[in-house]
Amino acid sequence: AIQRTFSIIKPDATKRNLTGAINAKFEEAGLRIVAQKRIRMTTAQAETFYAVHSERPFFGELVEFMTSEPVVVQVLEGEDAIAKNREVMGATNPAEAAEGTIRKEFALSIGENSVHGSDAPETAAIEIAQFFAGNEIVG
Ligand code: CMP
Repeated sequence: AIQRTFSIIKPDATKRNLTGAINAKFEEAGLRIVAQKRIRMTTAQAETFYAVHSERPFFGELVEFMTSEPVVVQVLEGEDAIAKNREVMGATNPAEAAEGTIRKEFALSIGENSVHGSDAPETAAIEIAQFFAGNEIVG
């Protein structure tokens, strides 16, 4: 079925001017960028977004990183968009990411891993709603 997923091009990637290269990977995979904006994420936004990780030892570092440089928040649409996006991103740890994936090609480490993508339809809906109003998504 046609789905929407939430994507973030993270600070390590925007800093290295990789927004277009990453978007090309999404589009080559058949994902359509139906909403997109470059923002400076606030600490409050990052803490809300990563609330499920608040007890993890890396939480502080994660929030610090996500607010350190601009990010590009996006809605990607397509057939099985959530799974397709996860396939294009590759494993969270770039050392484990498959050849040709975004994280294999661009990620620096498990933290500075260039992209985020929703893991399920429920989280996709919550994440999209945190950053986009309905009328900002143009399919
Ligand atoms: P993301 O998909 O954005 O969701 C949670 C993020 O936490 C994950 O990508 C990683 O970037 C980050 N993360 C996971 N494990 C670690 C870790 N051990 N150290 C630092 N960051 C991590």
